[in-house]
Amino acid sequence: MGRLVIVSNRVPAVRDRAQPAGGLAVALRDAVQGQECLWFGWSGQQIPDDEGEDRRVSIDTVDNVTYATVDLTKSEYNGFYEGYSNGILWPLCHYRAGLMNYSRQDRHTYHAVNTMFAQKLAPLLKSDDLIWVHDYHLFPLGLALRELGIKCRIGFFLHIPFPPWSLMRALPGAEKLMRSLRAYDVMGVQTEDDARNVNEGFSVVGVPAQARVFPIGIDPESFQQQASSGLDNPEVQKLEKSLRGLPLIIGVDRMDYSKGLPERFRAYEVFLRKYPEYRGKVIYLQITPVSRGSVPEYKVLREELDGVVGHINGTYGDFDWVPIRYLTHPVPRELLAPFFRLSRAALVTPLRDGMNLVAKEYVAAQDKEDPGVLILSRFAGAAPEMEDALLVNPHDADEVADALHKSLSMSLSERQVRWKRLQPDVWRVTAGSWARSFITALAEVRSE
Ligand code: G6P
Repeated sequence: MGRLVIVSNRVPAVRDRAQPAGGLAVALRDAVQGQECLWFGWSGQQIPDDEGEDRRVSIDTVDNVTYATVDLTKSEYNGFYEGYSNGILWPLCHYRAGLMNYSRQDRHTYHAVNTMFAQKLAPLLKSDDLIWVHDYHLFPLGLALRELGIKCRIGFFLHIPFPPWSLMRALPGAEKLMRSLRAYDVMGVQTEDDARNVNEGFSVVGVPAQARVFPIGIDPESFQQQASSGLDNPEVQKLEKSLRGLPLIIGVDRMDYSKGLPERFRAYEVFLRKYPEYRGKVIYLQITPVSRGSVPEYKVLREELDGVVGHINGTYGDFDWVPIRYLTHPVPRELLAPFFRLSRAALVTPLRDGMNLVAKEYVAAQDKEDPGVLILSRFAGAAPEMEDALLVNPHDADEVADALHKSLSMSLSERQVRWKRLQPDVWRVTAGSWARSFITALAEVRSE
């Protein structure tokens, strides 16, 4: 098999390259096992517009992986990353056409950056490379590479949902975007629903291709290990002491409107009203690092959350109890894993989510003798594989409130049974096995 070339907008930061912490980097480490790889993408840096012309690709090799990155100019960052990728494609793919701020200029910049990526990447390629492109930032990259004469096998994996055509067609140029996906030899998505929607789009524009399902996973062994060994960490003990023996409910989400946070907080308020016996008797820790903070919809969300949390804490709090401990800064994984283990329940209630790996991490982190309960949205990509969680509709505050009550009053034996049924899938479909299946599918394409 040839060299594996990964292309993604985000590339691990220099400080994380020696020891991958999560996501794609872990998948890659497990899947390629020392084989030579090239990882191409954005450097994370912005440069002035007039420096775009003579920017260079910067190269850094760590073990078997060569990282090749380019800077984006300020206007490219605005139009490609904030504008088209996160202000247009992201809401639409999460079924929120109403939040889309469409602009022709952003669409133009998006295509221009994809072309620039292709031009910078092409000279680094070898003829037997397998190229694997990731996520919505780079839909047209395959076609841009084909137009430069690249004949390698190219696969694409979409990490986020893909909506039905009746919604997708709200995007000006949706047909063209759909047709551009023909450049890929394998089109991978997270769930059966996503595959059905992509295939519907393909059939509308007459592309004779089929999306295939490759659900992504985590590295459960290492997460479990971090969860148990982390209990000795003084920071974790500080959290444990602050619980004063009360059950902990935890939520960990990027600050994103797809995560259903205002809905979740309102459901928690309903819980406090409906089951007042829990006031002062439960701790809810919500960790929500600010994300894409300069995209307008994210600013609005942040203000809304500040308001809702303030309202709940002011109304239901007491001088010795805060209903929601709300953090908008990130917490390192080595603390999150033991935090999950300490908690009695997790709220994972996105309105829409490609997969949601927090749900899988939560299961991996549990102590099998005394596991916590996962409350999971039916609209997370993980839901079809996790039917032994308490599945909820995140729009139904009463249903979420009742699930919270159920999780806190559930017998130990039911918690154990549910965890035992959730555990095998989390161990079976891992980050490494996901990457291996995709790479194998791609490698087999033309040898079929
Ligand atoms: C989602 C997307 C990724 C993205 C990540 C973080 O998981 O699927 O492509 O990298 O969010 O978002 P950011 O905008 O910070 O890269």
